[in-house]
Amino acid sequence: MKLFVDTGDVAEVQKAAEWGILDGVTTNPTLIAKSGKGFKETVLKICELVPGGDISAEVVATDYDTMLKEALEIASWHPQIVVKVPLIEPGISLVKTLSDRGIRTNVTLVFSLSQALLAAKAGATFISNFVGRVDDISDDGMNAVADTVNMVNNFGFDSEVLVASVRHPLHVVQAINVGAHIATMPLKIIEMLFKHPLTDIGLKRFLADWDQAGLSIFPKS
Ligand code: E4P
Repeated sequence: MKLFVDTGDVAEVQKAAEWGILDGVTTNPTLIAKSGKGFKETVLKICELVPGGDISAEVVATDYDTMLKEALEIASWHPQIVVKVPLIEPGISLVKTLSDRGIRTNVTLVFSLSQALLAAKAGATFISNFVGRVDDISDDGMNAVADTVNMVNNFGFDSEVLVASVRHPLHVVQAINVGAHIATMPLKIIEMLFKHPLTDIGLKRFLADWDQAGLSIFPKS
């Protein structure tokens, strides 16, 4: 399973990259706007911080011709870039065009299995299924993820299911258990994945016992 950080903040990407377990980064227009920096410079810096990682950068037009121009421009910036495309009618046509040209895509704003089918058929590299925004309106966002994973596996689609709009570690656990290929989440959620009170208690006890016994890993001089 791949782990992505969902941010437009290069300092956050750098922190996540330092753990050595980061497979990629997802951005969206909101996150880039929040970063206060230019789109291209931010995306290129992120590519540099995560060598070999999948870096999603999103088009902002909503008509096919302009979306195609934007997609080709964004894709030309760096080979690690995955062009993020919203699930609208011209978006699906665009994904098919890009897929035929060997350009990788991340279909975003996917909330249902029927939408996921369209993305898979168009040749999406990643299908970004949002869970938190569905939970926010009193439904279970993970249902569509589980259904999409089954569809991709049963029919042999090449797309990978990316769990997006992750709000807490339980979403990550559920994503693992339904067999999602990728989860993307804010840095603060990745930090929460480290936490367990028994780890803290256990480590404190190990170190206290070690100190009390006067032991050392290195020869004492
Ligand atoms: C995914 O690629 C999106 O950028 C992101 O996960 C959306 O999350 P939000 O619902 O917390 O804004």
